[in-house]
Amino acid sequence: MDFLNQELQYYAEQHSSPESDLLKRIHRETHVRTLKPRMLSGHLQGRVLSMISHMIRPERVLEIGTFTGYSAVCLAEGLHPEGKLITIDINEELEDQVRRYFAEAGLSGKIDYKIGNALTIIPDLRDTFDLVFIDGDKENYDRYFELIIEKVRAGGFILADNVLWSGKVINSKPDKKTNAMLEFNSKIQHDPRVENVLLPLRDGIMIMRRVSL
Ligand SMILES: C[S@@+](CC[C@H](N)C(=O)[O-])C[C@H]1O[C@@H](n2cnc3c(N)ncnc32)[C@H](O)[C@@H]1O
Repeated sequence: MDFLNQELQYYAEQHSSPESDLLKRIHRETHVRTLKPRMLSGHLQGRVLSMISHMIRPERVLEIGTFTGYSAVCLAEGLHPEGKLITIDINEELEDQVRRYFAEAGLSGKIDYKIGNALTIIPDLRDTFDLVFIDGDKENYDRYFELIIEKVRAGGFILADNVLWSGKVINSKPDKKTNAMLEFNSKIQHDPRVENVLLPLRDGIMIMRRVSL
């Protein structure tokens, strides 16, 4: 489901900074080589991620769900000069392709790309994060949130993608994944550890700010 009609989507893209040549290529090759290219953030969402990252100038970013590296490159654009981005994906098949993109972007030294299950990798991370992007498997959003919340500094931000789940969150007969998203959104809405806004961009991004209790 597209929340904006195609003409408005096109207009918004035409009035947003263009994608770099590398991002255009990642977009194109993802559509040619992978089975679910729609998972990639894309032009408009990518520019929003980049803009948010520039606003925060984060020293530490964590991304759960690298896929082909599109959103990692966007988030890395706003890194503090000493900053580092850790991105995790369970799918090892895309590793060579993604490492090539990071190298072409000049980001090999800035991005720590970890292959494995985020649920087992995150507990071993010692960093405190300024910005986290949750974009892995939808059933585990709540677990990801609980694993990272204590690792996010007070005043730091968490973004969770796909929280409108193609509009299914307002369906009267939700399926398993939709139920997971409904539970996650409801929990965040009532969680005193964060302030939140559901931004209806693309498939919906929940923006959360960790408050000091
Ligand atoms: C929606 S895609 C990420 C898209 C990417 N962030 C972007 O915007 O271009 C989700 C990714 O999460 C990965 N994933 C799913 N379960 C995971 C897990 N338990 N640990 C790490 N990665 C996981 C999948 O392999 C997939 O590549």
